[in-house]
Amino acid sequence: MGNDATSPYTIEFCDAFDWMAARQPDSIQAIVTDPPYGLKEYSEVEKQKLRAGRGGVWRIPPSFDGCKRSPVPRFTVLDQAELSALRAFFARFAVAAMRLLVPGGHIFIATNPLLSHLVYMPLMEAGFEKRGEIIRLVQTLRGGDRPKNAHAEFAHVSVMPRSGWEPWGLFRKPCEGRVQDNLRKWKTGGLRRISADQPFSDVVLSSPTRADERSVAPHPSLKPQRFMRQIVRASLPLGSE
Ligand SMILES: C[S@@+](CC[C@H](N)C(=O)[O-])C[C@H]1O[C@@H](n2cnc3c(N)ncnc32)[C@H](O)[C@@H]1O
Repeated sequence: MGNDATSPYTIEFCDAFDWMAARQPDSIQAIVTDPPYGLKEYSEVEKQKLRAGRGGVWRIPPSFDGCKRSPVPRFTVLDQAELSALRAFFARFAVAAMRLLVPGGHIFIATNPLLSHLVYMPLMEAGFEKRGEIIRLVQTLRGGDRPKNAHAEFAHVSVMPRSGWEPWGLFRKPCEGRVQDNLRKWKTGGLRRISADQPFSDVVLSSPTRADERSVAPHPSLKPQRFMRQIVRASLPLGSE
């Protein structure tokens, strides 16, 4: 999908692996991505189950205040073969990203506390340096449930904690020489500060995506613009490509 010449960005409607393979090596400064980390939740079969409102990896969180909840994928139901497929998917992504990024280029990759290791290990095996994790502090509807069909019996037990954060892995392709040399040559290698006095922080206060944003882009995993702007800004340290 192309945009007109005055637009500062281009939206591509394509397979991201094809797009990456068609680009020159060492040609982009940063990747900020929210990949399909459960993989199968966006398969045709699972999307049909989501639309039908029953079965599959999607579940509707319980409503405790009368408001209708949006479905969230259940990552606990993935079996060993699906977990291996997930790892292989990220190994493929990591190799493509290593080729594409300039030295010192960062990846910010959205994940979740249950699967993040399967996302991070392949990136490190491909040669990326782990530079930390960004904690998006957001009240999610994951976890916190009592044992299924035994709520009354175990009224004071949750099977998992109610999750109040979302991890974003932070990785960097190794710099060419010192960070200052890399910044001069490749325009990256560090993170853009919020101001001269304030570095970018690895904890970002956030809210669930607002209803008006969801009405424009009705995607079940839509990230809020406000949060995305903060991390995209940090990913280009000199404020330019
Ligand atoms: C977790 S969602 C990300 C949603 C995103 N945060 C948003 O706000 O639109 C992952 C998305 O990646 C898409 N996807 C999966 N495989 C892909 C591929 N090979 N190329 C491009 N997109 C892909 C899925 O269809 C899904 O929409």
